Amino acid sequence: MVVKVQAKLLDKIKLKENIYHFKVEAPEIVKTAKPGNFIEIRVSNNTDPFIRRPISIHNIDKNKGILEFIFQIKGEGTKNLSKKNIGEEIDIIGPLGNGTFKYNEYQNIAVIGGGIGVFPLYELCKEAKEDNKHVSTYLGFRSKDFVLLEKEFKKVSDNLIITTDDGSYANTGFAINYLEEDINQGKVSSIYACGPLPMLKAIRKLSIEKNIPCQISLEERMGCGLGVCLGCAVKTAESSKENPQYWHVCKGGPVFNAKLVEI
Ligand SMILES: Cc1cc2nc3c(=O)[nH]c(=O)nc-3n(C[C@H](O)[C@H](O)[C@H](O)COP(=O)(O)OP(=O)(O)OC[C@H]3O[C@@H](n4cnc5c(N)ncnc54)[C@H](O)[C@@H]3O)c2cc1C
Ligand code: FES
Repeated sequence: MVVKVQAKLLDKIKLKENIYHFKVEAPEIVKTAKPGNFIEIRVSNNTDPFIRRPISIHNIDKNKGILEFIFQIKGEGTKNLSKKNIGEEIDIIGPLGNGTFKYNEYQNIAVIGGGIGVFPLYELCKEAKEDNKHVSTYLGFRSKDFVLLEKEFKKVSDNLIITTDDGSYANTGFAINYLEEDINQGKVSSIYACGPLPMLKAIRKLSIEKNIPCQISLEERMGCGLGVCLGCAVKTAESSKENPQYWHVCKGGPVFNAKLVEI
């Protein structure tokens, strides 16, 4: 059930110069949250900026009622949010999104993320591993300075591959190349992805070529987050000039069957 809460900020960790990891007390949200869900956060006490900001759920602790999210400062909204102090309350609506990551019917799951798109994949890896799935995780970053959450993902993956585009850390090249090798060796039964659009496009194409089920999380720009403003539309795979058809990321997603969206 979607609820609006005043969540107390319990911990705040600066992961990089402009990236923050927040832990908040939100038992009403974590009770029903699933991997791939997001929250809408009110980022200002006045009307500027007025619209809430969508942020993915990174980790949930159902026993303690704690919800974690990680965000990069992009503009005024996320800058305001980063100034919150431990003990202050944050106005949050969630869990949002009807499309979430589903892995039950697959055994060898491949989780692939790029840059700040890796945040929503953690809860998926954690839950899948707890359910005895074999989790292979592929995380791509621009260079050594951009690598995030390596230790954390190691704990929730059977096999973790980190790549940097320039080879300054771990494996050189794009994460998708290492995923493709494992697909070719028959090690992958389904794919889950979140990251920059060019990466998602390439993963979608690969999954269709190799006939592997694939779910992608689209972090499109959003307005209301509730299906009212229609500010988050993406074309369906069946859309044409004569008959345009759209999904709305906030309602139908953010996670979609890759075959069903045109990106
Ligand atoms: C479902 C969903 C989940 C998300 N999860 C996360 C997350 O876990 N962590 C995180 O750091 N960010 C996440 N985002 C992106 C985040 O919502 C935006 O970065 C944030 O809303 C920017 O707000 P702002 O007021 O700081 O910047 P604005 O002033 O609104 O924008 C500043 C700059 O950021 C760009 N921008 C704004 N929104 C997006 C977006 N969605 N994608 C790419 N560029 C954008 C703008 O084009 C502009 O250049 C998510 C977005 C969606 C839709
Ligand atoms: S953000 Fe308003 S309809 Fe999706």
